[in-house]
Amino acid sequence: MAEKEVLMQIKDLSVTYETRLGPVSAVEGVSFDILKGEILGLVGESGCGKSTMGKALMRMIQPPGRISSGKLIFDGEDIMTYDENQMRDFRGRKISMIFQDPMTSLNPVQRVDEHLVEAIQVHEPKTKPSDALGRSNTLMERLGIQKQRMKNYPHQLSGGMRQRVMIGLGLVLNANLIVADEATTSLDVIVEAKLVDQLKEIRDEFGVTLLVITHNIALVAEISDRVAVMYAGHLVELGTVEKIFDNPLHPYTYGLLSSVPNIKLDEREELYKMGGEPPNLTHPPKGCRFHPRCPKAMPICETIEPQFQEVARGRFVKCWLYENHPDKTTKKIEVAA
Ligand SMILES: Nc1ncnc2c1ncn2[C@@H]1O[C@H](COP(=O)(O)OP(=O)(O)O)[C@@H](O)[C@H]1O
Ligand SMILES: [Mg+2]
Repeated sequence: MAEKEVLMQIKDLSVTYETRLGPVSAVEGVSFDILKGEILGLVGESGCGKSTMGKALMRMIQPPGRISSGKLIFDGEDIMTYDENQMRDFRGRKISMIFQDPMTSLNPVQRVDEHLVEAIQVHEPKTKPSDALGRSNTLMERLGIQKQRMKNYPHQLSGGMRQRVMIGLGLVLNANLIVADEATTSLDVIVEAKLVDQLKEIRDEFGVTLLVITHNIALVAEISDRVAVMYAGHLVELGTVEKIFDNPLHPYTYGLLSSVPNIKLDEREELYKMGGEPPNLTHPPKGCRFHPRCPKAMPICETIEPQFQEVARGRFVKCWLYENHPDKTTKKIEVAA
């Protein structure tokens, strides 16, 4: 596979929510790259910080939350330095986000064509309304929304069609990155499968990059080129979909995969079941946040946080099994490329 260019670099990103019970560390010290034209799956249990991460990439975290640290470098520019005007232009034009329930993002009293034309006019004031309409109709037809549907209001459309309108809103402005947060979760299985196929076609046809956020590991296997695994606000593993599924490195990834039927893991550990509950993020465990549930935990895991590091080409993991103990008391596992 040819080396892909980097579209967005996320560096040491942390997001905190201030709550009555204290600060919630929903994303902490996360660093990774999003590559141009890839479909990157972001997976993890409910509450691990996936949506927070997706919103943070667009700087859409609302109070009581805030990005407490980090750089977000998009096409070479750190968007953390942008003012609100620059950000408004950036959102929609460069990154667009689609959610589980598109009704919350669509204006109920605006027709489909009006949504698209307005989006174009906000970001490209010089485009004539008739051109904007023509462009919208052509695009939506390619997404399988017929012309007569363009006059419908959001509530007159099916869930799958509404999601395609949301995708269209990103594509009509030539967004480089689409973040889909549980976008297929509320659809029935057949509609979901169709939308998944369509997302892949869209990537191929428009060359857009997709970050697909989901708790559904089977969906991630189906759609992604690379997979990022999140646990309790940390990124714990990242790699190609083949490597992650053939040879998961982090014990959490292993547990996550073994909870899915039809994924064949090492037979000796087939009965591996992850016990316990995800931690409360107001008081995350010290050291590795997974250690209380980890069948491989060592004493060091309880006190010192492992680094998220590249252990083989393109494979990242945050786990003491793959790092040398500072006292050299354990030997790290070498990962073949
Ligand atoms: N607006 C908010 N106020 C306080 N805490 C929040 C808020 N939004 C999310 N959180 C907390 O941040 C953590 C991560 O949430 P979220 O990003 O929604 O996870 P996921 O999308 O993986 O389910 C959770 O502990 C959640 O309770
Ligand atoms: Mg979520």
